[in-house]
Amino acid sequence: MHLLLTNIKQLCNVERGTKYKPNVRGAEMKDLPVIENAWLFIEDGIIKDFGDMEHAHTVQANDVMDVGGGLVLPAWVDSHTHLVFASSREQEFVDRINGLSYEEIARRGGGILNSAQKLSEIDEEQLFDESLERLHRVIAQGTGAIEIKSGYGLSVEGELKMLRVIKKLKEHSPIPIKSSFLAAHAYPVDYKENHEGYLNLIIDKMLPVVADEGLADYMDTFCEKGFFSVEETDRLLEAGAKYGLKAKIHANQLHRSGGVQVGVKHNAVSVDHLEAMGDEEIEALRGSNTIPTLLPGAAFFLGISYQPARKLIDADLPVCLATDYNPGSCPSGNIPFLLTLACTQLKMTPAEAINSVTINGAAALEMSNEIGTIAKGKKANLIVTQKMPSYSYIPYDFGNNPVKKMILGDHIV
Ligand code: NIG
Ligand code: FE
Repeated sequence: MHLLLTNIKQLCNVERGTKYKPNVRGAEMKDLPVIENAWLFIEDGIIKDFGDMEHAHTVQANDVMDVGGGLVLPAWVDSHTHLVFASSREQEFVDRINGLSYEEIARRGGGILNSAQKLSEIDEEQLFDESLERLHRVIAQGTGAIEIKSGYGLSVEGELKMLRVIKKLKEHSPIPIKSSFLAAHAYPVDYKENHEGYLNLIIDKMLPVVADEGLADYMDTFCEKGFFSVEETDRLLEAGAKYGLKAKIHANQLHRSGGVQVGVKHNAVSVDHLEAMGDEEIEALRGSNTIPTLLPGAAFFLGISYQPARKLIDADLPVCLATDYNPGSCPSGNIPFLLTLACTQLKMTPAEAINSVTINGAAALEMSNEIGTIAKGKKANLIVTQKMPSYSYIPYDFGNNPVKKMILGDHIV
């Protein structure tokens, strides 16, 4: 397919040349390179060329799409989700309004254990169908690549069920998917007093099958007080590494638990959440290759303090944003709303926020050589927006969907 897009109000996050940037960090993040009044040419699902309308293109296309004053951006990369789950948890939402905390609900057997119970009751086919529907909903809001975790199985059978569903989603999805193995999300009821037994189950019984069937790209743990300690995380990440699984972990959501430091020690691709951060954590991230990924949707929904995005950007780090889409702490995979939160609550500029979910999101999935910017040779993984004045309008116009069409390789959705 040869497709020419014309009359693009702003072509956003453009990279010249073909030596792609892996990410943008610190002060660079406030620069979102744009071509005003642009055209873009796509051949066989790959970006071939682009420029401004005044310097007319010489390309011959069999299809022309007049964007009519809409914008074109790299599609959002949501690098942290729990999109595969069996059931919603709105009762816990009500319980929190009535005064219980997220941790208290978890201690009483709700939270992740509630989701694990529901997951054990649903069959694989229904789990797949419901997850695919969710996936299509977030694509309609601009998501063009996504990471999905296990972690509601908490048994050999349950974890493998989730990971097989994610594998099947990869086969049926119009967008790239990466998967993370998160059996270390909570101690299941049967192992409440036998942590050693559950760690052995993960390491000896689950990991070999996960690796053998190619079910995961990353190893994740919920490193947090009351969940998995730094020592336990250390042991699990080492075990994952033996099977070639790089680390990508939940860290510092509720406490300064040492999660960031143990992630950096294992050269984690990213450490995610980061509500509870001090200078030591920021120092650990500086000079590492680990990407700080912020999940303000969870902080918003749980009513806890937001991540110190400005401090991290001032420390010259490549900040990434993701939704954390899950039934407990963030039942939404809506990235346009996440951008609004990043701007209003984390005080990021629209350019910084958009960089965080495009090029830096791609970096957090090790895909920035394929997607995340508009560059010759990268995949056409693009959002075409409704007519709007500029990219800052996207977080400004909150609650509304900016997406008119998604261009995903050869598919237009
Ligand atoms: O990233 N914090 C740990 N895990 C998820 C929430 C899990 C749940 O409550 O179901 C998170 O917020
Ligand atoms: Fe999460």
